[in-house]
Amino acid sequence: MASRKTSQRSQPDGDKYSVLLPTYNERENLPLIVWLLVKYFGESGYKYEIIVIDDGSPDGTLEVAEQLQQIYGEDKILLRPRAKKLGLGTAYIHGIKHATGNFIIIMDADLSHHPKFIPEFIEKQKEGNYDLVSGTRYRGNGGVYGWDLRRKIISRGANFVTQVLLRPGASDLTGSFRLYKKEVLESLVEQCVSKGYVFQMEMIVRARQLNFTIGEVPISFVDRVYGESKLGGNEIVSFLKGLLTLFATT
Ligand code: GDD
Ligand code: MN
Repeated sequence: MASRKTSQRSQPDGDKYSVLLPTYNERENLPLIVWLLVKYFGESGYKYEIIVIDDGSPDGTLEVAEQLQQIYGEDKILLRPRAKKLGLGTAYIHGIKHATGNFIIIMDADLSHHPKFIPEFIEKQKEGNYDLVSGTRYRGNGGVYGWDLRRKIISRGANFVTQVLLRPGASDLTGSFRLYKKEVLESLVEQCVSKGYVFQMEMIVRARQLNFTIGEVPISFVDRVYGESKLGGNEIVSFLKGLLTLFATT
């Protein structure tokens, strides 16, 4: 197959990936997710760093992160904590400021997003020189495991309503397992107004508006085993508000 004009092969070791891990009460999950990240990056040979953005978790997540830093090294594990819980969207923005990679990977720290998919994200990005690659639960072999009916309906519903209102041309709008070119993410973040979970949806909608190219990789999302979701009723209300704001302004 002829290679596309845009897919200039970058140097095998030219690219660096900054993984942003926002954490709030993830003491049990953090060691395993970090171990898996180190494993898959080690095997694939790409340069990387892991940036943990802990929001003053009362369960001692930051202390665990400090121990992991001792084990894997300060060049691999960066700690960029904040004093209190300020929301997922702003946690990413905070993390980006400290990232030294030319690509940024955003994912959950609770093992719902498996690091084994990262090499696929990277390959997909290189294949089409995409501005961003989004994991999708709603295409191909993608899926969701372990959610109750309520949670499935919320997620499907949020995706469906957004698809109908905004037609963003991506199959998973509320997912948060994504890879971005750093400068693309920076320019998207500048445009984004939302602070909580709705951030993910706004990012992909804005990406389409700005004509950024989007690649997709099917992922399986597995509900967390340890700890609990921080997605509460408030977040659902602010999602709807955010959606309406976007609908009105785009
Ligand atoms: N620093 C920080 N601050 N981290 C946070 C905060 C916060 O205020 N709130 C949540 N997190 C972290 C969690 O510790 C976890 O690593 C990640 O963000 C996702 O939080 P969860 O509470 O596990 O989210 P979820 O499983 O309910 O929701 C997932 O699915 C949604 C819809 O499909 C996430 O992937 C969401 O981003 C997604 O929108
Ligand atoms: Mn989760």
